[in-house]
Amino acid sequence: MQSLQDQLKQKVGQAALEYVMEGEYLGVGTGSTVRYFIDALAESGIQLKGCVSSSEASTRQLIELGLKVCDLSEVKEDIPVYIDGCDEIDANFCMIKGGGGALTREKILAQASKKFVCIADKSKKVAQLGVFPLPIEVIPMAVSRVARVLETMGGKPVLRNFVTDNGNNILDIHGLKLSEPRKFEEEVNQIPGVVTCGIFARRGADVLLVGTENGVEKLLPDN
Ligand code: A5P
Repeated sequence: MQSLQDQLKQKVGQAALEYVMEGEYLGVGTGSTVRYFIDALAESGIQLKGCVSSSEASTRQLIELGLKVCDLSEVKEDIPVYIDGCDEIDANFCMIKGGGGALTREKILAQASKKFVCIADKSKKVAQLGVFPLPIEVIPMAVSRVARVLETMGGKPVLRNFVTDNGNNILDIHGLKLSEPRKFEEEVNQIPGVVTCGIFARRGADVLLVGTENGVEKLLPDN
C-alpha cells in the first residue's frame, strides 16, 4: 500500500501540471516526487518541444513513457519552467537538494530556467536548513581534502557509496546549522574540487507546491 508521504508526493506531482507550458521546453528534475510528476505529464498528453532532464534516471523514465528528451545545448534561450523536488526548503525558498545525487545537473537547469517550481510533500518545509545532511558533489581526487575543509566548517562528512552521472563522488555533510545558507553555499563553492554544493540559495525556487492531507498549497517566497 502507498504510504501517506507517497500519496502527498503523487498529489503534488499531478498539481505541477498547471505550470507546464504547452509547446515549450520543460526542465525536469529528479527524485521520487518528480517520478510522479513525469507519470502525470505522460498521461496528460501535453505536447512539448522537449524535456531537458537533470539525470539519467529521469531521462530513462521520460523516454520509456514516450516523452521527447533534448540536450540543454539545443535550447537557445532560458527554459520557461523547471519542475523539481527538494530535500528541505525554508521560508525564503532556499533548499537543500541532492538526496538523489543529481544536484549538479539540477543546479544547471535551475539556473537556466525562468521559473523554478518546487514540488514537495509537507515534511520538506523547515524553519532552518541542515537537518537533512548536505550533499556536495566532489571530484574524486579531492574527496579527503574537501572532507577535512568541511570539518573545519563544523560539519561531519560521510562519503556516500554512489557515483554521480558525472562520474564524481558525493559527501553528505551532517550536523550543519545553516542559518546563512547563501553565504555557506558561496563559501563551499570556493573549495577546489567541489563541483556543486547542494544548497540552492543563490538560485532558489520561485513557487512551492506543498502536498498536504488537505490538498496542495501554492506558496510564494517570503523575500
Ligand atoms: C535529487 O538529487 C534531489 O535533489 C531531489 O530533488 C530531492 O532529493 C527530492 O527527492 P524526493 O522527491 O525523492 O524526496
